[in-house]
Amino acid sequence: MNTHLPLLCAMFLVMMINLIRSQSNEDLYSNCSNLFNCGNIRGIGFPFGGGNRSSRCGHPELQLVCEDNAASITISDVKYKVLGVYPDIKVLRIAREDFSSGICSPLFLNTTLDPPLFSMANGYSNYTFFYGCPNWPTPSAPGQFSCNKSGITDKKNYGFPGAMGPGNCLESVVFPVSQSLLAQSASLENIARQGFEVRFGVDSAACARCANSKGVCGYDNSKNTTACYCPDGSLVSATCSPPAAGGPQGQPPPKGYLALAKDDLYRSSGALSLGTVNSLEYTMSHICPTVSPTDLLSSPPAKDQP
Ligand SMILES: *[C@@H]1O[C@H](CO)[C@@H](O)[C@H](O)[C@H]1NC(C)=O
Ligand SMILES: *[C@@H]1O[C@H](CO)[C@@H](O)[C@H](O)[C@H]1NC(C)=O
Ligand SMILES: *[C@@H]1O[C@H](CO)[C@@H](O)[C@H](O)[C@H]1NC(C)=O
Ligand SMILES: *[C@@H]1O[C@H](CO)[C@@H](O)[C@H](O)[C@H]1NC(C)=O
Ligand SMILES: *[C@@H]1O[C@H](CO)[C@@H](O)[C@H](O)[C@H]1NC(C)=O
Ligand SMILES: *[C@@H]1O[C@H](CO)[C@@H](O)[C@H](O)[C@H]1NC(C)=O
Repeated sequence: MNTHLPLLCAMFLVMMINLIRSQSNEDLYSNCSNLFNCGNIRGIGFPFGGGNRSSRCGHPELQLVCEDNAASITISDVKYKVLGVYPDIKVLRIAREDFSSGICSPLFLNTTLDPPLFSMANGYSNYTFFYGCPNWPTPSAPGQFSCNKSGITDKKNYGFPGAMGPGNCLESVVFPVSQSLLAQSASLENIARQGFEVRFGVDSAACARCANSKGVCGYDNSKNTTACYCPDGSLVSATCSPPAAGGPQGQPPPKGYLALAKDDLYRSSGALSLGTVNSLEYTMSHICPTVSPTDLLSSPPAKDQP
């Protein structure tokens, strides 16, 4: 039948577009306009990615994850609960997730905040937990604790200020603690659970310039710099240029062939929406010689044909 040809043409094009599915800058312009929302952590944009924000909306090491309404971030292989994000002052408040169920079974990996991206916030200093030690330290540490855990039950465990390796002990873990919390002689469990603040050094001035030019900030991994996605789908390293009045943007799409694309993949200015077909929204961006939109809409979906 005559009506099958346009349908096949359309289906082929949809398949092709799905095959070459890689996020265009235009998608990223709208995708990176989303903010990360998860539990108490709300309205987070650049320099963070994750959640409903593509990873390319933020720095590769600032990717948030939302699980069970709790935000987390993994830095140098250690997973942290995100307790607060303060982009204005470039501070992230995090706590090691392995300490959330107590201090006896951590991942034996130091908290590592590698420069130039990260630095420890003011008022924090290094602290080390030692596990499975033959003796108490000299001078004696106030932070002694016991763990009912195979291998270390009858050994000594303690916390000590500074960053140190295990020495004679079986394991050690270095992480930042708040000096004021230490001064209050808070319990070690409390010190570990409270978490710490870390500063992240990302070029926010570049993002402000981008946003002022009606662009949306993202991150260009190939150049290690802030990227600026513009409404017209271009990726620029600085600012978006103002749209030229009466330019090609306002012109109707060229006639000649028809391409259908899932609406979230291909948004061309001036495109006509064909509405919802098989519960996916399609946009007509070009006109196929063999097909008119009415052909398509009057053709039943292939799977419903007898
Ligand atoms: C992503 O978007 C969906 C639908 O709008 C929303 O329900 C969900 O909470 C969002 N998730 C995050 C992490 O922002
Ligand atoms: C943004 O892109 C990411 C990765 O492609 C995707 O998981 C997410 O659902 C997108 N967000 C929206 C709102 O479409
Ligand atoms: C904390 O220890 C690390 C090494 O584990 C070191 O590079 C860093 O400078 C120390 N930070 C402070 C504030 O002492
Ligand atoms: C230590 O753990 C073992 C098994 O995990 C348990 O039988 C024992 O009662 C625990 N001891 C203490 C003092 O909690
Ligand atoms: C942890 O940090 C201490 C002090 O910088 C270092 O001596 C030790 O080797 C580190 N441990 C691991 C597992 O990297
Ligand atoms: C980007 O940073 C990574 C890690 O810091 C580095 O390995 C890479 O060479 C950098 N790329 C450029 C183009 O600067």
